[in-house]
Amino acid sequence: MTSVKTETTFDVRDLRLADEGRRRTEWAERFMPVLRQIRERFAKEQPLRGRKVAACLHVTSETANLAATLRAGGADVALCASNPLSTQDDVAAHLARDHGVGVFAIKGEDTETYYRHIQQALAHQPDVTMDDGADLVGAIHMIALNRMDDLAPPVRRWVEGLSRDERERIVKRVIGSTEETTTGVIRLRAMAQDGVLQFPVIAVNDSQTKHLFDNRYGTGQSTVDGILRATNILMAGSTVVVAGYGWCGRGVALRARGAGADVIVTEVDALRALEARMDGYRVMPMREAAALGDLFVTLTGDMHVIGIEHMRVMKDGAIIANSGHFNVEIDLDALQRAAKGPRQARQYVDEWQLDGKRLFVLGEGRLINLAAAEGHPASVMDMSFANQALAAEHLVKNGAGLGKAVHRVPQEIDRRVAELKLAAMGVRIDELTAEQRRYLASWDAGT
Ligand SMILES: NC(=O)c1ccc[n+]([C@@H]2O[C@H](COP(=O)([O-])OP(=O)(O)OC[C@H]3O[C@@H](n4cnc5c(N)ncnc54)[C@H](O)[C@@H]3O)[C@@H](O)[C@H]2O)c1
Repeated sequence: MTSVKTETTFDVRDLRLADEGRRRTEWAERFMPVLRQIRERFAKEQPLRGRKVAACLHVTSETANLAATLRAGGADVALCASNPLSTQDDVAAHLARDHGVGVFAIKGEDTETYYRHIQQALAHQPDVTMDDGADLVGAIHMIALNRMDDLAPPVRRWVEGLSRDERERIVKRVIGSTEETTTGVIRLRAMAQDGVLQFPVIAVNDSQTKHLFDNRYGTGQSTVDGILRATNILMAGSTVVVAGYGWCGRGVALRARGAGADVIVTEVDALRALEARMDGYRVMPMREAAALGDLFVTLTGDMHVIGIEHMRVMKDGAIIANSGHFNVEIDLDALQRAAKGPRQARQYVDEWQLDGKRLFVLGEGRLINLAAAEGHPASVMDMSFANQALAAEHLVKNGAGLGKAVHRVPQEIDRRVAELKLAAMGVRIDELTAEQRRYLASWDAGT
């Protein structure tokens, strides 16, 4: 059988940035004790020896610690970005220079380069893929289903140059995949539903030690951080409209309220809307909230949550940001058609003139916490990436026995991550006594 040519190079902005990237990665590592323990065990046990991992993740200092953990476990790692604006160029340089990771990521890369980098990660011929938004898995499935027109041009051109045997090999080689975020998991479930999923996928996002903390506290803090770094606005006394009261939206609403903002929530789900109301926020449709907000943040995983009809009624000077996975939550195409601009008001702030008013869109409508800030704090990524590393190990050990479906991270892994994190934080908890265990297992004790 012929094998696809492997590319072992990298494509980063400037290797001279590597020292700064190393310092930044070491700083993050201080806050990632769970991942550190896994790395130490991986170094001894080599669970990923001889395996190739291709990861499409935000290339940040926390991801660098995950990549180093996978390397310690014996994996040959390729890494590309899961967003054109989220790469930390110094970290990318450090990983390429000091860890032998095939990094293909440059902050601000254009669409062509973004997909060329995805193609280069695919050319690594992974046994395991890791996604944040299902980009790698999506491309592999388009190859499997011979849907060439659905591949981005750089990937399509590469695939067209491969023999049938080589294309099949790319798909067959994959033992399984892991998925980091809500939007990716939704896509993978849709693939499973359509009966096209080619291998098992582990929904890391569904781990409790992931979404309860990363999506809520990580996105909550880092989204506000990104907005403040981009604009330096005072949140106290302002009206902040949060679209979507899922795990991410809850986090942003909580932090915005903590900073003194009057928070309005918009939702399409009755339960979530009710929860937001009882958590003390005003809840109303976007068409009403649009006229009231000073700052809008979308975190829905949906598209066109803020449309041109909403932007037309916004106040002069309204600021619009997105922290959901894709840049489709704000209808920027409609804005472009209807408004004049953009003019750069500050870095990451585009001014648009619409009906004689100024609207400011942050970070081109892409994840603002990664575009204008540094993404989630390392302490929370410690748990997300502990799940990722353990999910990769689980796939290598047990992937053959897992069905072609979307699986949860095994519950014992989730619990173990929580226990390790608590221990690292110096927090101890009570244990059930034998009497309590008996009582909780009984149905006839007590009145
Ligand atoms: N910025 C980050 O770093 C980061 C981190 C984790 C997840 N994410 C992304 O953020 C998004 C939300 O993730 P989540 O975990 O909170 O998902 P979730 O499913 O828990 O919440 C999404 C909420 O949005 C609501 N919603 C959907 N369409 C809406 C609409 N038109 N108007 C108002 N509300 C609407 C849903 O009812 C739901 O309650 C996803 O795209 C996810 O991938 C981003």
